[in-house]
Amino acid sequence: MISLACEIAGVKLNNPFIMASGTYGFGKEYSAYCDLNKLGGISGKGLTLHPKAGNKGTRIFETASGMLNSVGLENPGIEAFLAHELDEMVRWNTAVLINLGGGTIGDYVEGAALISEDNRIRRLDNRRGADMIELNISCPNVKEGGLAFGVETETARQVVREVRRATDMPLIVKLSPNAQDIRAMAVMCEEEGADGISLINTFSAMKIDIKRRRSVFDNLYAGLSGPAIKPIALRMVHQAAKAVSIPVIGMGGIVTAEDAVEFIMAGAAAVQVGTANFMNLRVGEELADDLYRYMEAEKIASLEEIRGII
Ligand SMILES: Cc1cc2nc3c(=O)[nH]c(=O)nc-3n(C[C@H](O)[C@H](O)[C@H](O)COP(=O)(O)O)c2cc1C
Repeated sequence: MISLACEIAGVKLNNPFIMASGTYGFGKEYSAYCDLNKLGGISGKGLTLHPKAGNKGTRIFETASGMLNSVGLENPGIEAFLAHELDEMVRWNTAVLINLGGGTIGDYVEGAALISEDNRIRRLDNRRGADMIELNISCPNVKEGGLAFGVETETARQVVREVRRATDMPLIVKLSPNAQDIRAMAVMCEEEGADGISLINTFSAMKIDIKRRRSVFDNLYAGLSGPAIKPIALRMVHQAAKAVSIPVIGMGGIVTAEDAVEFIMAGAAAVQVGTANFMNLRVGEELADDLYRYMEAEKIASLEEIRGII
């Protein structure tokens, strides 16, 4: 018997593959191509208290083994999401993470409180709600993305502390690779009562249009993701996993089941898959099948056998 199942903060996942925020809409956008019931989870597009139109100009640019994005957290706002999107998202047999961004501590707290209140009402009504909040203190593309909070540990502590007070839902804090000290950031999250951490978000990066003699992006810099960042992401996940005992969700450049196995061996409890969704719309479903075949060939019955062995 081979089991791909895993558990994060009391939430059971079918398998370790969670589709990463900003690369999978709210799930339904992919439902014609991929069986969402075969995913471990979906982290929805990053939400802010108020709707956001996103950035002007070029938003996506392909690079060697990766991509740059400057989407700027385009989203309908938390209230519209809860009213019009969440019911559809929880129809699938897959964990639902709400990715929360913010420009001020007040925004984050108010956002977390709205999500938690919705969750409480759904519980009373016996309706399924979201499973976890993924607190994004790491989006490099907009002020409201929270990177201002995600670089220095003590600044991030204030947000994590206040949001922890505002919600009793499982809370995952998403870390930035641009953090000054990734180990200290991970430890701080554990100290402040987070139920887990996820890492990494994109690297602040750049592309210049030499004909126009200016940055390709109106915002100058953009976030780098995809296979190009995988070795660095793996090192950071390893460092974070060694530093804390709460679950670590690893991501950055995962395209194959073997990539995911590396993250699990580095200590990840589960993984997220982002850029690969733009290369193959069915990748989420295929990864679970590929991981099963890998475990069968290697005679591994459960992910616990290989988790954190490095
Ligand atoms: C187009 C795009 C939009 C993204 N939007 C968000 C977002 O709204 N919130 C967030 O936390 N991360 C966002 N991310 C970061 C991804 O969730 C992920 O952390 C990152 O891309 C690294 O994983 P990958 O290399 O598998 O893509 C976005 C990434 C991309 C490529």
